[in-house]
Amino acid sequence: MKIPHNVYQEKEILKLPQEKLRHLCYEVSRLISENPKTMVQYSPLRILKFMHDGITIVITDKESNKLIGFVKTYRWGSHQGRIYLEIGSLIVDKKYRGHGIGHFLVREALLYAKNLHQNAYVFAVVRLINQPSLHLFKSIGAIEKPIPQFLGIPDKRVVPSVGFDLTNLITSE
Ligand SMILES: CC(C)(COP(=O)(O)OP(=O)(O)OC[C@H]1O[C@@H](n2cnc3c(N)ncnc32)[C@H](O)[C@@H]1OP(=O)(O)O)[C@@H](O)C(=O)NCCC(=O)NCCS
Repeated sequence: MKIPHNVYQEKEILKLPQEKLRHLCYEVSRLISENPKTMVQYSPLRILKFMHDGITIVITDKESNKLIGFVKTYRWGSHQGRIYLEIGSLIVDKKYRGHGIGHFLVREALLYAKNLHQNAYVFAVVRLINQPSLHLFKSIGAIEKPIPQFLGIPDKRVVPSVGFDLTNLITSE
């Protein structure tokens, strides 16, 4: 990725001064709100909760410090001794798309998932109308698979969508 950037992972994010952290959550929520048809919407407070709960990765522009991209993993629970992690809320600011940042964010999230939960089932849910995202997950080698029903993901989130299994990507790294 050629754009000069800073990467913050969840522990570094939480060390930011309160004011900066609040601003970051607001910016992530605002960026997501620009994509109402392809993304589940979250308030800044909910984003802050994700930052405390799991793996979140934030990329900012090194010069302007503005938010470039965001991704989180969300733990849906476990089933038969296996943890189920969703990689979601993947977002890159319009101005920065097509430079490999989306790929980078997913790879980073996968690395963290692997370090935290060796035996995790890692998946993504992408809406059928979301061509750039479908393309991205296919191009990194994610396998189309139904979203595990027992997780109880609300219907409004998964219809009409494609489920991707990314587990093979954490074991092959
Ligand atoms: C999906 C998204 C994160 C991709 O981010 P990005 O930084 O542009 O991704 P990358 O630069 O790593 O490129 C992704 C691939 O998509 C391709 N691509 C970019 N725009 C595309 C488009 N409009 N249609 C199809 N493919 C596209 C790129 O050429 C690249 O292809 P490659 O893998 O063959 O090289 C970005 O488009 C986005 O934020 N979309 C809105 C939010 C969203 O829908 N998030 C996903 C929710 S599941």
